[in-house]
Amino acid sequence: MPTIEVLPHPELCPQGARFEGESGKSLCDNLLAQGIEIEHACEKSCACTTCHVIVREGGESLDPSTDDEDDLLDRAWGLTPHSRLSCQAKLRAGPVVLEIPRYTINYAKERR
Ligand code: FES
Repeated sequence: MPTIEVLPHPELCPQGARFEGESGKSLCDNLLAQGIEIEHACEKSCACTTCHVIVREGGESLDPSTDDEDDLLDRAWGLTPHSRLSCQAKLRAGPVVLEIPRYTINYAKERR
C-alpha cells in the first residue's frame, strides 16, 4: 500500500503523520480515516476549496486533475503548482507527501 506522509499542521496534525494509504480512495478519505479532520465543506462534491492540499512529493501517484478541479483550485487560499483538491485526487501507487495549507476559504461558513 502507498505511504502517505503529512507534514505538521498546527491544528489538524501537529506532529505530522505517516501511514499506509488505501489505493483507489481519495486523499481526503485517506486523511479522514486516520483522524486527520481536513475540512470538506461541500461533502467532497468538487464544489469548494476547503479540502485543498499541496502535494510536496509524489504528485504522479495521483489521478490527474479534471478541468472542474483546476477551475475551483484557482480560488483556493495559498494555491501552488502542486495544489490538489484532496477529495478529487485519488491515490494510486507510490508514496506521497502532503502539506495541508494553514488556511482555507470556506465560502459556506463565511456566508452565515
Ligand atoms: S470537499 Fe469540497 S471540493 Fe473537496
